[in-house]
Amino acid sequence: MKNILVIHGPNLNLLGSREPGIYGSVTLKEINEELLQLASKKNASLQHFQSNAEAELVNRVQLAAQEKIDFIVINPAAFTHTSVALRDALAAVDIPFIEVHISNVFAREAFRKESYFSDLAVGVISGLGIAGYQLAVQYALDLPVRS
Ligand code: DQA
Repeated sequence: MKNILVIHGPNLNLLGSREPGIYGSVTLKEINEELLQLASKKNASLQHFQSNAEAELVNRVQLAAQEKIDFIVINPAAFTHTSVALRDALAAVDIPFIEVHISNVFAREAFRKESYFSDLAVGVISGLGIAGYQLAVQYALDLPVRS
């Protein structure tokens, strides 16, 4: 069975009320529920995790290696632009991942154009709203299971 982990970085717990003009009105709970449904239709296992703390996100990525997670979908949120530690954790576990951003980070402030993750990622989805998560999970579901 395929094991997918979806990781949400800081402030994404506020989705639904946080800057709705940029991030929309759907809550994180609703996003996670949709992703769980998508995975269950394909008989895959999906876990989700959100934290505002860098150390917790690093620990969650490290744990993923022990849990034999096949694929990670991650929105590192503000840590995209700052976190060497989270980048190093993803490099260390060597689990393929897609970097997702709800907004188009390239159409916003200059500091959002820099990512510590994009060159390690299988791919990056930015600016497609919450559909980005669904597309990334669908991609992971369609991949053959790693041996
Ligand atoms: C974000 C974009 C980041 O620049 C920002 O810090 C976020 C959310 C997005 O999903 O568009 O918190 O990752």
